[in-house]
Amino acid sequence: MDRAANKNLISVKPRLFRHPAVIAAGSAAVAALLVLNVTAFVRGMDSPWLLASLIIADILVVAAGTLVAAREVLVADERTEASQARLAAIVDSAMDAIITVDAAQDIVLFNGAAEQMFRCRRQEALGAPLDRFIPQRFRAGHRGHIEHFGNTGVTSRRMGVSTLWALRADGSEFPIEASISQAGEPGHRYYTVILRDVTLRKANEDALKRHQQELRELSAQVLEAREDEKTRIARELHDELGQLLTALKMDLAWLAERLAGHDAELAAKARAMGAMVDQTVASTRRISADLRPLMLDDLGLADAAGWLVDDFAKRSGIRCDFQLNGAALDDLSKAVSTAVYRVLQESLTNIARHSGAKNSWVMLALENGSIQFEVEDDGRGISPEDLAKARSLGLKGMRERVAHLGGALEVARAPRGGTRVRARIPLHGMLKEGAEP
Ligand SMILES: Nc1ncnc2c1ncn2[C@@H]1O[C@H](COP(=O)(O)OP(=O)(O)OP(=O)(O)O)[C@@H](O)[C@H]1O
Ligand SMILES: [Mg+2]
Repeated sequence: MDRAANKNLISVKPRLFRHPAVIAAGSAAVAALLVLNVTAFVRGMDSPWLLASLIIADILVVAAGTLVAAREVLVADERTEASQARLAAIVDSAMDAIITVDAAQDIVLFNGAAEQMFRCRRQEALGAPLDRFIPQRFRAGHRGHIEHFGNTGVTSRRMGVSTLWALRADGSEFPIEASISQAGEPGHRYYTVILRDVTLRKANEDALKRHQQELRELSAQVLEAREDEKTRIARELHDELGQLLTALKMDLAWLAERLAGHDAELAAKARAMGAMVDQTVASTRRISADLRPLMLDDLGLADAAGWLVDDFAKRSGIRCDFQLNGAALDDLSKAVSTAVYRVLQESLTNIARHSGAKNSWVMLALENGSIQFEVEDDGRGISPEDLAKARSLGLKGMRERVAHLGGALEVARAPRGGTRVRARIPLHGMLKEGAEP
């Protein structure tokens, strides 16, 4: 470790003249000398013995004082050196790189970890500008930041908000995390930067982000595949089974009519079968609509949402007020209308299953280039524990759907009690082809 550099990091005041023994000895010597000098003055120069004693005493006191002072200086120097050596050992054994620069941003301290991190020997780094270890494109900005930091008067702070980049002696770059502190007077300021190589952590974070993105895409694909499958089954139930059942019902009606004059019992049986077919048609329609309302594809989100709200109110007995703003709801892409529909459906199912509400409100609007919707109830409200339930998938699925489209979803206790689900999905590029935003 460079000694000159260390001096910048530590200031040890010599304790000369402060030690009580030195003060006592000094005071006694000065008092004795004073007495002798006064005696010599009173008795005149008539006593050569007194004069000689006075001179010897004066010499002794001055010599003793000088010796004590010299010793104190030596001891203070030794203390300073020992303290600097301790500090040097700490700085040099630190796991993090430590670099100190002067006011001109030239390096005056470069510890062992810095040597390894920057692959540069200390002798080569000392005296070099800090810029040497900063990629070219960041140099001007970095210099300005340090100067600005010097003017703030703040003693230390973390550097940068996003990832910082440093430059090794071999020209390779690596990400760092750093904090800076300052000491000294204006014009003689020293800045110490403590930095850590975060290459591994950044690689792990990047990998985690990539995996999360992949999982999100996978989940979106699974949802889309499920949606396609539901649509296919809903259509087959509605079209094929529906038509067959209708044909069966017409045949039964024909049979009942034919049998009416001949066999009353058989005619009644045929009519009962017709009524059962009616029920089967209704059940098929309901199952088909639960799977996926075909009107979502055929008529659009506004109609499908209206039907969903009516059906919810009818089935649950909870009053539901539906407010719809924005004419262009039918121009939404299939991805958006499906997501909004499924989030509404899950929110209403949750109200029916968990809230104990009497009233609910659904608002769907197209505003400022985004689709916004709210589902609120006046029930028992949702707690943080409810939101964190690991096995519940409804809210997670809602979040996933909205996030996949670049939107945001919030589930919280509503201001008037109850629960409120609020979502916003930006429509940029989410309209049907050819539709105006
Ligand atoms: N409107 C609401 N009012 C009161 N509590 C609610 C409401 N909506 C959700 N909750 C609470 O939040 C929890 C999580 O809801 P979520 O929809 O994720 O799961 P779930 O409905 O229990 O199960 P599923 O996975 O079948 O949807 C619920 O178990 C319930 O306790
Ligand atoms: Mg649920």
